[in-house]
Amino acid sequence: MQIKSLPINKPLSGKINIPGDKSISHRSVIISSISKGKSIITNLLESEDVQKTLNILKELGVKIQKKQNKYIINGKGLYSLKKSKKKLYLGNSGTSARLLIGLLSAQKFQSTFTGDKSLNKRPMDRIINPLIKMGAKFIYGKNKKLPIKILGGQTLKPIKYSLSIPSAQIKSGIILASLYSKGKTIIIEKNQTRDHTEKLLKFFNSNIIIKKLNKNKKIIIKGKKELKAKNIIIPSDFSSASFFIIAALIIKDSKLTIKNVNLNKTRTGLLTALNKMNANIKIRNKRNINGELVGDIYVSYSRLKGCILKKDISSLMIDEYPILAVASSFASTSSIFYGLDELKHKESNRLLAIKNNLIKCGIKCYIKKNNLVINPNIRSFPNKIIKINSNKDHRIAMAFAIMGMVSKKGIIINEAEYINTSFPNFTKKINRIGAKIIEWKNW
Ligand code: S3P
Repeated sequence: MQIKSLPINKPLSGKINIPGDKSISHRSVIISSISKGKSIITNLLESEDVQKTLNILKELGVKIQKKQNKYIINGKGLYSLKKSKKKLYLGNSGTSARLLIGLLSAQKFQSTFTGDKSLNKRPMDRIINPLIKMGAKFIYGKNKKLPIKILGGQTLKPIKYSLSIPSAQIKSGIILASLYSKGKTIIIEKNQTRDHTEKLLKFFNSNIIIKKLNKNKKIIIKGKKELKAKNIIIPSDFSSASFFIIAALIIKDSKLTIKNVNLNKTRTGLLTALNKMNANIKIRNKRNINGELVGDIYVSYSRLKGCILKKDISSLMIDEYPILAVASSFASTSSIFYGLDELKHKESNRLLAIKNNLIKCGIKCYIKKNNLVINPNIRSFPNKIIKINSNKDHRIAMAFAIMGMVSKKGIIINEAEYINTSFPNFTKKINRIGAKIIEWKNW
């Protein structure tokens, strides 16, 4: 599917509700599936990625029902999963892959995972290597990529593991495996990454302790303890909200209210960046919901300036660089984002996709040693329709849909159906507050 995002000449305004957080949705389904009792999940994200996690857990014998807008997960404890008769299909979902490989490497039975063309090219050695250290056994092809067979049947050993790649997916995969090993698994994190797994496991009464170790974070998990089912309310996804935040910031006189957004500090590096850029954003009604900070975001059009971001903030806003790059293209001064190596391993090589697509939009930018430099000069926006390929990447598609709204003649985005992996109804929602994004069939 293609979409065409047309320039608009009126401000965006209104109140919007963003769907549930993707990371918390995956984790809620997984953790309640292996806890004891009935968990009711409200506001689960019904996107294609989360659907893959739901399908796989159903394949593994978990009873999951949907009643009205709630999901009821009937967990039967740590040892209740059953061997699937089929290969487990992960689609495009990297989070499902890393977390579920961790979980299933600790089970008594074999499982085989595969993904779509794009996921099958992404690195899995990052999760497999620590699991092998724990004693898990795998059969894999070249470069440890999908499809992967987990042999199962091993009792995993606790390990001490220092994360060399700042990745919440790796951390969470190891944590889920460690729930099945006897003794203390210790994970050292130098750069903070999203901590939804730790928060949710605490909420589900697991044996998890978080300590500070100099500037690092130390996570200690004692395995073999059954988890207690809990009801979960999932807040709106900050990463999905970020497209609306930037749209309001760059479209003249816009004003938006976005309610009930997850503001976990390991996710909101973008707010720190936007604050440096002079963005007019207010957060109100901060509160805590099942261990997660939630609040309402008020954002209005701002004259942005550029900013310099060091590598150490990157893990707190890793998914927001495509849309921040769009915002920086409309700032009054240059921006430099340091240390974006991890962006190359996302749903596409995002570092390259951002650069190539910004250049198509007439924005001067370049990559130097995994750092991105953007020199905004809006006046050079080409006076023609621009065509962009999403590279099967939802965030590239949505970021350039926002860019289309401030373009001269519009932007056509190919393979835009990938938006559904994280944000179903994105175009409907944004059109309701003033955008003009249409389905376009003449690519
Ligand atoms: C996610 C972690 C991030 C992020 C992804 C979701 C998660 O990946 O990019 O969209 O839910 O754990 P890494 O942890 O691999 O950086």
